[in-house]
Amino acid sequence: MPIPMVDLPKIHAPYQGALDEAVLSVVHGGGYIGGPVVEAFEKQAASFLDAPIIGVGNGTDALQIALMSLGIQPGDEVIVPAFTYAASAEVIALLGAVAVWCDVNESTFTIDPNSVKDVLSDKTAAIIAVHLYGQCADIESLEKIAVGIPIVEDTAQAFGAKFIKGKYSGRFAGTVGAFGTFSFFPTKNLGALGDGGAISSTNADFLVKAKSIASHGQRKKYEHHLLGLNSRLDPIQAAALAVKLKFLPEALSAKTLISEQYLAAFQPLKQVVVPETASFSNHTYHQFTLTIPSEKRDRFVEYMREKGISTMVYYPIPLHKQKAYAHFEPRTSLAISEKLSRSVISIPVHEALAPNDILAIKDAITKYFS
Ligand SMILES: Cc1ncc(COP(=O)(O)O)c(C=O)c1O
Repeated sequence: MPIPMVDLPKIHAPYQGALDEAVLSVVHGGGYIGGPVVEAFEKQAASFLDAPIIGVGNGTDALQIALMSLGIQPGDEVIVPAFTYAASAEVIALLGAVAVWCDVNESTFTIDPNSVKDVLSDKTAAIIAVHLYGQCADIESLEKIAVGIPIVEDTAQAFGAKFIKGKYSGRFAGTVGAFGTFSFFPTKNLGALGDGGAISSTNADFLVKAKSIASHGQRKKYEHHLLGLNSRLDPIQAAALAVKLKFLPEALSAKTLISEQYLAAFQPLKQVVVPETASFSNHTYHQFTLTIPSEKRDRFVEYMREKGISTMVYYPIPLHKQKAYAHFEPRTSLAISEKLSRSVISIPVHEALAPNDILAIKDAITKYFS
């Protein structure tokens, strides 16, 4: 059996009984939409993050609802990194707004505030800052550069990441911008047993609006004030998430320890660039992503496959080169996004990796690049 990127049954094993019990109690209870199980999870997550949070259907909906709550209109410009998962930009296009690409920092992979400066305009209506791979993007610098422009923190990959320096020191990713959006896709830091997502906001009125938009624009049943959609966190998922949230600190610590071993092993390798953590953030290592010479990547992937080790390329094509988004023409250099899409490679880093798996991964990579 190859070492997978993520092994959910193995991750769940230590608390599988509690997970089964929580899910079955919803199945037997008969409350399948909303209700106390969802409310209890929202409360638990809000207490963990020290920020208000509402559950929604998934992380993509969360982004769309955040933009709708900000009143993004057709023709408005929304700045988004070219190097991220498509969902971050997809929601802009779905609203008829204009995705304006910016570049990312080569060492941390997150949004580059200087690149944002290049593309700011009087039509800029929001910025989507993605906390990519599990560490915080530089929200404080973005705020200084784009004064008064609402920032949506796409926290799909960074539930549990924290700012450790500056204005937001001690605060969690996703809790400092106009909106923070979260995904509970099963492989995320906090993953459900299916789809799930959440939204936080520093503005209580925004969150009320978001909650209404997520529920067909209703504030009261059958009174539709706003154009909305149907995006609900499922109680079965909420029950599972409530169990998994209790184990999150442990899981994040385990991933950090594995990553520290990787960093020590790979730092000396000349052809390998290890991921850097920004000074103002911790890293939850949703992904452990190396940068290697682009001409060697295909062969390296093949070599790892032969060794029984999975790898993944997140993301092989920057968004401005995707057919679906080709009509959003770049307005600044996206050279780093292009370079990274050719040279990044992510390796397994989940909390249930056995010590001999970690050893095998370290050995294989060290041998290949020595
Ligand atoms: C950066 C980013 N944004 C948004 C999403 C969308 O989340 P979901 O799959 O829950 O819709 C993802 C999911 O992979 C993501 O990685």
